[in-house]
Amino acid sequence: MGDRALAMGTFFFDERLIDDEQGRIDNEVNAFTPHDCADRSFVTSRLDVKCRCLMELDFMTKESQPSGPDLTSGVALTQFVDGKLLGHVGEEEVLLVQDGSEIFAIAAHCSHYHGPLNEGLMVGGTIRCPWHHACFDLRSGDAVRAPALAPLDCWQVEKRDNLVFVREKRVGLIQRGKPPTSAPEKIVIVGGGAAGFAAAGMLRRREFRGSIVMLSSDSSAPVDRPNLSKDYLAGSAPEDWVPLRPDSYYNEAGIELHLNSEVVSINARHVTTGKGDQVAFDRLLLATGAEPVRLSIPGADQPHVRTLRSLTDCRAIIDTSKTSPRALIIGASFIGLEVAAALRARDIEVHVVAPEKRPMERILGPDVGNFIRALHEEHGVIFHLEDTVTAINGQRATLKSGRTLDAGLVVAGIGVRPRLALAEKAGLVTDRGVQVNAFLETSATGIYAAGDIARWPDPHSGERIRVEHWVVAQRQGQTAAINMMGMREKFAAVPFFWSQHYDVPINYVGHAEQWDEITIDGNIRARDCLLKYKRKGRVLAVASIFRDLASLQAEVQMEDQMIQSV
Ligand SMILES: Cc1cc2nc3c(=O)[nH]c(=O)nc-3n(C[C@H](O)[C@H](O)[C@H](O)COP(=O)(O)OP(=O)(O)OC[C@H]3O[C@@H](n4cnc5c(N)ncnc54)[C@H](O)[C@@H]3O)c2cc1C
Ligand code: FES
Repeated sequence: MGDRALAMGTFFFDERLIDDEQGRIDNEVNAFTPHDCADRSFVTSRLDVKCRCLMELDFMTKESQPSGPDLTSGVALTQFVDGKLLGHVGEEEVLLVQDGSEIFAIAAHCSHYHGPLNEGLMVGGTIRCPWHHACFDLRSGDAVRAPALAPLDCWQVEKRDNLVFVREKRVGLIQRGKPPTSAPEKIVIVGGGAAGFAAAGMLRRREFRGSIVMLSSDSSAPVDRPNLSKDYLAGSAPEDWVPLRPDSYYNEAGIELHLNSEVVSINARHVTTGKGDQVAFDRLLLATGAEPVRLSIPGADQPHVRTLRSLTDCRAIIDTSKTSPRALIIGASFIGLEVAAALRARDIEVHVVAPEKRPMERILGPDVGNFIRALHEEHGVIFHLEDTVTAINGQRATLKSGRTLDAGLVVAGIGVRPRLALAEKAGLVTDRGVQVNAFLETSATGIYAAGDIARWPDPHSGERIRVEHWVVAQRQGQTAAINMMGMREKFAAVPFFWSQHYDVPINYVGHAEQWDEITIDGNIRARDCLLKYKRKGRVLAVASIFRDLASLQAEVQMEDQMIQSV
């Protein structure tokens, strides 16, 4: 299972230490501040529990000593394993990577959640993170693929007498082409979520000098949404880790962020908000995401019956959970079960009611479904499967089976719907999503769409698909940004998502709505497996638990297949 399981498994113990040992942790945070970031609070906000846990574990087991040899003293190539060698320069962990005849020295941990890059995969001058498939350029440290948005430090390398020495840090390595002279002046982004945020950031990274206005109906600046059903909800991550950037970032980056600003209509070259403000654009990105499907049963409108999408939703669930010893989760989806796990960490009795026979069977198949059920049961979750809730009367929920359950908190995780109203009103072509081409352009010139609302021609599956994945939304936002500046880049990333249940991460690459065969390599119950979802012999998707390298390799294979099929 490796360090990740070990580290995450010891987390709940370590968390108590974190409070006691904040000073030591702060020192470590300082040690790996990315070089583009003068603001330490940004780095702190990017650290999630796993990261802090790993650092704490380092303190406990290695007495604060960074891993491996001192790379400034010289190491032999024979010490490299699979082209990599983890060592340190002072207090900083540095990864040496051999790529052909070249050797690179790069920060050893991913700038997303601090994943261990020495367990990652080298692909054509880049290294990919084993945890959520971010990708960094070895030569410059640039974060070339989300979910990492900040670059990594790089060091000078000298080869002498068959030894490799790491020298000083290198600066100013990232060369990004200037935007075309035909770049527009005004870009408006509707949506302050994964896609909108990544688009705005990419525009500034690519030196777009025009105005960027981001209009978001949320009441908070863009947040690390996946955290809302995981560490933050579980009470193991403080709220100041949830924003993707500190408030000061938007001003500094010249991104005009308007919160509580719902866009209600789009006209030829301006959008109108619910407050009546008109904002002109040359290019427009729609990134309105999805909204949770609401229950349509009697009693669903009571204040203790919740859904989870925004930070406000999450805060409300946390508040209600403080006075509710028992929670009812309706739906055994990813969100529903992540919420179940988070509430169990708060010592709340959790019941899950869902119509299916096995949780997540539709996406991951029966064997993973059985495993997920057993995993949650081990943690005390009580399932009521093949059943539904027909009414909620006060704190009493009645099930179709006739059973009743009392719960002071009800969370419905019964799926989401793309937020299409705006696009439909504007007359854009929609088909269970906003239809976009390979460049993420909608049917209207100058208007792009990305994230949960976009249905795009996926070159891997050969189908028009729409997915609800964090990483896909960010990558689409970035591609749309590049295209809005006047360049022509196709969106061709293989879809990827992850989900976390207690100490078990599930990674999924590709897209398989239907399959006729699942092959299982390894042992699901032992949490060491890779499943391939196939149709007519072709691998459409791969799910894995603690097979991170194989998951990355599967991603590369799918990319290669795409290139061959073009
Ligand atoms: C609790 C939770 C946990 C998740 N965990 C994972 C995970 O572990 N892994 C994973 O891959 N995916 C996860 N997801 C899914 C992932 O978060 C989404 O796929 C992703 O956020 C989609 O990005 P988006 O930009 O399309 O939409 P969003 O991030 O939802 O952003 C949409 C934005 O548009 C705004 N908006 C909507 N309509 C308007 C309007 N008319 N005017 C102005 N603003 C508007 C909204 O307020 C919001 O700011 C999770 C989702 C949730 C809710
Ligand atoms: S920790 Fe590297 S991609 Fe998430």
